[in-house]
Amino acid sequence: MISFRVELGPASHAVNIGEGLLERLGELAAAAGLSGRCALITDANVARLFAARAQAALRAGGFDPVTIAVEPGETSKSLAALERVYDRLIEAELDRSSSIFALGGGVVGDLAGFAAATFLRGVALIQVPTTLLAQVDSALGGKTAVNHRLGKNLIGAIYQPRLIVADVSLLKALPEREFREGIAEVIKYGAIMDAPFIAELEREVEGLLARRPDLLEAIVERCLRHKAYVVERDEREAELRSILNFGHTVGHALENSVGYGRYLHGEAIAIGMTAAARLSCALAGLTAQEAQRLRALLGACGLPTAMPPGWRSEEFRHALARDKKRSGAGVRFVLLSALGSTTTRLLGLEEVERLLA
Ligand SMILES: NC(=O)c1ccc[n+]([C@@H]2O[C@H](COP(=O)([O-])OP(=O)(O)OC[C@H]3O[C@@H](n4cnc5c(N)ncnc54)[C@H](O)[C@@H]3O)[C@@H](O)[C@H]2O)c1
Ligand SMILES: [Zn+2]
Repeated sequence: MISFRVELGPASHAVNIGEGLLERLGELAAAAGLSGRCALITDANVARLFAARAQAALRAGGFDPVTIAVEPGETSKSLAALERVYDRLIEAELDRSSSIFALGGGVVGDLAGFAAATFLRGVALIQVPTTLLAQVDSALGGKTAVNHRLGKNLIGAIYQPRLIVADVSLLKALPEREFREGIAEVIKYGAIMDAPFIAELEREVEGLLARRPDLLEAIVERCLRHKAYVVERDEREAELRSILNFGHTVGHALENSVGYGRYLHGEAIAIGMTAAARLSCALAGLTAQEAQRLRALLGACGLPTAMPPGWRSEEFRHALARDKKRSGAGVRFVLLSALGSTTTRLLGLEEVERLLA
């Protein structure tokens, strides 16, 4: 097991990464000072796979868990699902000394995290991420939210967990496509802040795709340490934290214009990073060879890199403009001046379309 701390003043907490940690969940949470009544919030898929093991581990650590399983999928990040979660928490008589364990992907982490932030004005939250995306990204940083019918993540809070437990052996059960989309976020950390990591990933593609546990442990650790570095310096995204949006400007615009469902988030981000690398060659000093390495690595991991046919639409332009900073006429892009270093540029919509054409 690898452990480190995220330093956020009074909200500082430990991160544990390793194989077989689900079986030690109760012990690890007890060591973080938690005990007693708790809710294990999960989704139906994850419940089928891991709830019994998590419950047993919690009981062994002295906890008394009630399990709440929501429907799998983004629709559970809703006010309606949240209300059902509150109902169950109240029925189960959780009190202010109780804790909430979020066992699942980013959907469960965001929903259970917001429930923990708000129930009784805040109860202890333990993130137990089970997707690669959640293990390398969403579990750390404290962003919690549900969606509103008018937009994603519109209702939420920054609420730090008391503990993160990332058991990389759980990733074996992930469907291939969901595993690969998480790799896009892994590659993102290399692109924005760790060029040697890109070289290591290039060498280890085979082991990564084979989900070798020792490799996954090292990769998840490296990504979480990078995210912790960023969040420690800019918890509320005043400036630095925005580098984590590399690839997300075009990525979100694709998700919104070609429609949710066509691409998984990580797939849209892979295309978005490739597009941002192209803009970086034209405007920020990234070399064509570096951009090609990024594209080739994403491709070798089975991720799409080409803009979809017909991407130049009114909807795309609209979606891109929604990312626009209120102050300026353009869209704020995170670009690369080299692999491992970022810079930002305000770009006009026409300029973006011209450079990506
Ligand atoms: N809070 C943040 O900082 C942050 C960052 C990035 C993304 N997000 C959010 O994360 C969400 C996406 O998260 P996600 O990609 O993890 O999706 P998800 O939570 O929907 O999980 C994907 C699917 O995999 C299943 N699953 C989960 N773990 C599994 C396992 N070990 N084996 C087999 N199946 C498993 C789930 O049931 C689900 O069907 C989005 O709502 C996004 O907004 C939040
Ligand atoms: Zn993302």
